[in-house]
Amino acid sequence: MDLNEKARSILRQNDKGGYTLPTHGLYPYQWNWDSAFAAWGFSTFDTDRAWSELDTLMASQWADGMVPHIIFHQPDPGYFPGPDVWGTEQSPATSGISQPPVAATMARQIWEMDPSAGHDRLAALYPKLLSWHRWWANVRCNHGPVAIIHPWESGRDNCPDWDIGMADIDGSGVAPYKRRDTGHVNPEMRPTKEDYDRYIAIVEFGRNAGWNQDRIVADGPFLMADPGITFILLRAHEDLAILGRALGADVSEIEGWATTLRSALPLIWNDALGGYDARNLRNGEFANVLGSGAFLAYLANAGNPQLDAQLQRVWDKVSYGIPSADPEAESFNPRKYWRGPTWPVVNVLIAIGLRDSGRDDLSERLRLETETLIKKHGFYEYFDPLDATPCGGSDFTWTAAIWLTWAGHAPEANIKGVA
Ligand code: GLC
Repeated sequence: MDLNEKARSILRQNDKGGYTLPTHGLYPYQWNWDSAFAAWGFSTFDTDRAWSELDTLMASQWADGMVPHIIFHQPDPGYFPGPDVWGTEQSPATSGISQPPVAATMARQIWEMDPSAGHDRLAALYPKLLSWHRWWANVRCNHGPVAIIHPWESGRDNCPDWDIGMADIDGSGVAPYKRRDTGHVNPEMRPTKEDYDRYIAIVEFGRNAGWNQDRIVADGPFLMADPGITFILLRAHEDLAILGRALGADVSEIEGWATTLRSALPLIWNDALGGYDARNLRNGEFANVLGSGAFLAYLANAGNPQLDAQLQRVWDKVSYGIPSADPEAESFNPRKYWRGPTWPVVNVLIAIGLRDSGRDDLSERLRLETETLIKKHGFYEYFDPLDATPCGGSDFTWTAAIWLTWAGHAPEANIKGVA
């Protein structure tokens, strides 16, 4: 089967009617940023379905504006931690944390394909996106950059960026549980038991706090500044403002959030490292790790010559894509979850940023490397950046979406930058 057709068939197979699973088995529910990428993928052949994907995602928005990272539409015993562990009292049940807010950026991509046809769909979605962005600004940006309360919120779940914040968490008292992820994929590629206990300890804290976000930010066991979400949100603010203006809305509130967030970027610049860095907000300590989150700076037009040099160094040490962690760091592992492998979805976000900052050659190199990975092995969740070994789940929604929108096409493809 031709790869375009195969990618479309993956989206259709993972489509549960209004929402799309990341992959069968390993991830049997709706995930936040996966869904936004799925919408972008659908937009290449079914615009109506693309908008409905964003609608279902935003339909589970909490009263305070938060959009959860998982929506548990139907029970599935094959996944842990399920709705009973999160205990959020939402209907349908959801997790109690959020995920990278790429939805406004994806909505802009979809809308731009056919602005007049998308007008009403966008108008219905816009107030929800606005209220989610307000939640990030008011609840999570009080320290300046975006604060996350759980490593899973970053979308780069297990990356070395979070090691300093995880180190002191006591996971020894968590209720007994049985992991399900290691039954679906090679346990060598997944987080360790000690990490998992700590992840669950943070969830238990949130549940015991009734998922009161202010309380979790004030007293929770984990609070770190995430460069990745900071750049994604900054870009998404700018995209949302463009959408708002097109709808005739007053976007001064959004512009204010973007200005404030941009002025906080020096707080996540680590001079000693020579790059943007995650930071423990409880004590100010830097992670001293150059991860792929730092290179998302290009997406928010926040690159600089030092970052360019780091990008070149890191990229030249591997053969395929931007690695999720620094190949020269001791913690680097090319197959372990977010500790080295390359993810097509992160590659596309970095490529959009590179292209928008005039580095078309680098953007095209990244596309070609991502294309090669998919051509060689198919639509895997992620890949070893040294030898292209496919890792994690197969027939993955966001990899298929990225093929249709970007990786499988020459530069004049569907991506568009901030005007
Ligand atoms: C993993 C990834 C996360 C993704 C989810 C579903 O948890 O780390 O980014 O959203 O899988 O694909």
